[in-house]
Amino acid sequence: MILVTGGAGYIGSHTVINLINAGEKIVIFDSLENGHIEIVQALQKIGDVKFEKGDLRNIDDIDKVFSKYDIEAVVHFAAFALVGESVENPAKYYRNNTFGTLNLLDTMVKYNCKKIVFSSTCATYGNPQYVPVDEKHPQAPISPYGTSKLMVEMIMKDYDKAYGLKSIKLRYFNVAGCDKNCRVGEWHEPETHLIPNIVKSTFGEGKVFKIFGDDYNTPDGTCIRDYVNVEDLAEAHRLALEYLRKENKSNEFNLGTEQGDSVKTIFKACEKVLDKKIEVEITARRDGDAEALYANANKVKTTLGWKPLRTIEDSITTAYKWEEKLQTLL
Ligand code: UFG
Repeated sequence: MILVTGGAGYIGSHTVINLINAGEKIVIFDSLENGHIEIVQALQKIGDVKFEKGDLRNIDDIDKVFSKYDIEAVVHFAAFALVGESVENPAKYYRNNTFGTLNLLDTMVKYNCKKIVFSSTCATYGNPQYVPVDEKHPQAPISPYGTSKLMVEMIMKDYDKAYGLKSIKLRYFNVAGCDKNCRVGEWHEPETHLIPNIVKSTFGEGKVFKIFGDDYNTPDGTCIRDYVNVEDLAEAHRLALEYLRKENKSNEFNLGTEQGDSVKTIFKACEKVLDKKIEVEITARRDGDAEALYANANKVKTTLGWKPLRTIEDSITTAYKWEEKLQTLL
């Protein structure tokens, strides 16, 4: 059985679908603080998915799951992921993302479970010294969120040496889109991400979409990011599990498309794909936004055989369809 922490959240739920399709049996562990029970119910309609509600900050919660099920490997998503909030409230991030993961790792060691795939982030690199960013780029996070994830990466290296616990750290770039059948999708409250914010602004009482700064040193003045489709990203987790089973080695990989798109490029792509004129306002820069960040993903391609199959248009189309559904759920 595979334990998926944070399986009721955005990337976790898409990965659960991928793993169900690969024939895996899943138990989801989620506090539902940010995850949604409706997402768990949608997953339970698709396949054999157990659900255990609990919080990683409470080691007894996770210990109970390991004593109840025979867990072969863990795919670990459960975390807080708002960069701005982490600056205001670092304790929340270190307690949950770092200390919570330590509880999980200690429980794994106790129950002799030695494989974990970990949701890390390109935020561990901080302001890039060069792009595209490869895995050898120095890791110097500029937010407690990034630091909370980097600390876990470091702990995992030590746990491999000391206890033989093998980990794959997947450093995501910007994740976008949703399940093409809209069974699950991106459901953040509040929503801070670019594509859902553009999409939301086209619905009834949606707020006007704002571009945070057009005075960056980039060709059109707006920030450049690497938008990887969530279904493609989910597949990388399956491949990482396969690698752990076959190679029994720790490793780390960037997960991005290697294509940098500016905010304005994404905005125009949304207008085109949705065939709508969308209102937009240019406002001041958002604190902490790096100018340009995109991946060198050569390592994941050559080592895991991963490649992105979906386009940014696919991500926009599915994000819009999901938003239509979400409007009826809210
Ligand atoms: N942006 C806007 N308007 C919006 C939302 C975003 O102009 O309403 C811009 C941002 O300023 C940025 C770009 O769109 O230039 C992308 O912003 P997102 O918030 O979608 O994503 P980030 O690049 O800030 O964040 C992502 C992940 C984080 C991770 C971070 C690392 O969501 O978890 O990359 O840089 F930490």
